[in-house]
Amino acid sequence: MSNIVIMGLQWGDEGKGKLVDFLSNSFDAVVRFQGGHNAGHTIKSKGKTYKLSILPSGLIQNKYSVIGSGVVVDPFTLLKEIKTLQKAGINITPNNLNIADNCSLIFSFHKDLDALLENNKGEKKIGTTGRGIGPAYEDIVGRRSIRICDLMNEDVLSERLKNILYFHNILRAGLGLDKVSFNLILKEILDIKDEIISYSKDSFDITRKLSSKKNVMFEGAQGALLDVTNGTYPFVTSSHTLSSSAFVGGCTPMSSIDKTIGILKAYTTRVGSGPFPTELNDEVGNFLKLEGAEIGTVTGRDRRCGWFDAALVKKAITLSSIKSVVLTKLDVLDKMDKIKICTSYDIDGKIYDYLPNRIDLQNIVKPIYEEVAGWKSSIRNIKKIEDLPENAIKYIRKIEEICGINIDIISTGPDRSETIVVNPEVIK
Ligand code: IMP
Repeated sequence: MSNIVIMGLQWGDEGKGKLVDFLSNSFDAVVRFQGGHNAGHTIKSKGKTYKLSILPSGLIQNKYSVIGSGVVVDPFTLLKEIKTLQKAGINITPNNLNIADNCSLIFSFHKDLDALLENNKGEKKIGTTGRGIGPAYEDIVGRRSIRICDLMNEDVLSERLKNILYFHNILRAGLGLDKVSFNLILKEILDIKDEIISYSKDSFDITRKLSSKKNVMFEGAQGALLDVTNGTYPFVTSSHTLSSSAFVGGCTPMSSIDKTIGILKAYTTRVGSGPFPTELNDEVGNFLKLEGAEIGTVTGRDRRCGWFDAALVKKAITLSSIKSVVLTKLDVLDKMDKIKICTSYDIDGKIYDYLPNRIDLQNIVKPIYEEVAGWKSSIRNIKKIEDLPENAIKYIRKIEEICGINIDIISTGPDRSETIVVNPEVIK
């Protein structure tokens, strides 16, 4: 094996949790490098279901796991998630979980701001997860974040807290929110700081520890199209979700990453607002939602559903140097008569093979489709690609051809065992 990044190539929820868990056995360590508890990874393993939002999926397989510097950490949610998993029998101690000490923290005032700014946007809202992710990342670039290392000295912590509340209280006054009490927040932090510190490690110590491991997996959260710069801005998350983000947020130098595996769902979904050229607001979209159980892990919101959009995916593949692809939820299409793949867009009479950044053009795209016949049978227990129905193989080959990639693993159901390994090299 080697050091790899695993990331979603659509708008998140591609089924990364299952794949990270499936591949974890081949790795010595798993690292989260961006996002926060806005991520939702569902893992089914040995008859149990685990829902993770901030912890690396590698913990389920008892692998050394890292929350890297690029992650924004809500310390209260983190401790709650640790306790829930421990109760479910998962081993989590400072020996198998480390948090980079330069991770920035999310507080209740970030959440307040997230909610208020969303409400004020009315119909133009982003549809965030409401977890305070955006405001926490704003504080990082505003250089006023409180980081885990600031918890280690009470004078430093007080000074940093005064500094961040100076800004937030001015903002809150302007927005009509109550002032945040310094003493209250300080007490809340002091109550939990020792437990958080017990898991933390200097980010450079983590870098050195990771460099001593042979096979490290960098686990992306969200998906390429939610990248704050290259996604469907402003309807994006606030972190960089492309593979290059693993170098910045994963406590690892660029040279140590060998390749990126992309996860693709066999159709497209999106939670929250924003452009979605292949969205199906009809009975087919509803069928995909029900058949694929497309309900958000974090917020419980229905996911919007549509046909596979190869034009969007091709851009994600190029920007993240994807060398290998995992296709998930193919079984959701088992009952379809016909399946469409969007290959390009007609925008005001001009053909585009990518989604342009201009919002005015995004709003008027007309997808151009190729259609393939469905296979109309269950593929859940099939273990080899050659045993799949002919039309399922045709659909897979069509995606490979249009996107210019190889599909190396196919997921045919939520359980670990429901997986077809097309190219065994990927898991070696
Ligand atoms: P935020 O990350 O909470 O600020 O939300 C910004 C956008 O990203 C919203 O459209 C969310 O629905 C979306 N989003 C954030 N995290 C995830 C995820 O893990 N899966 C899918 N969508 C997400």
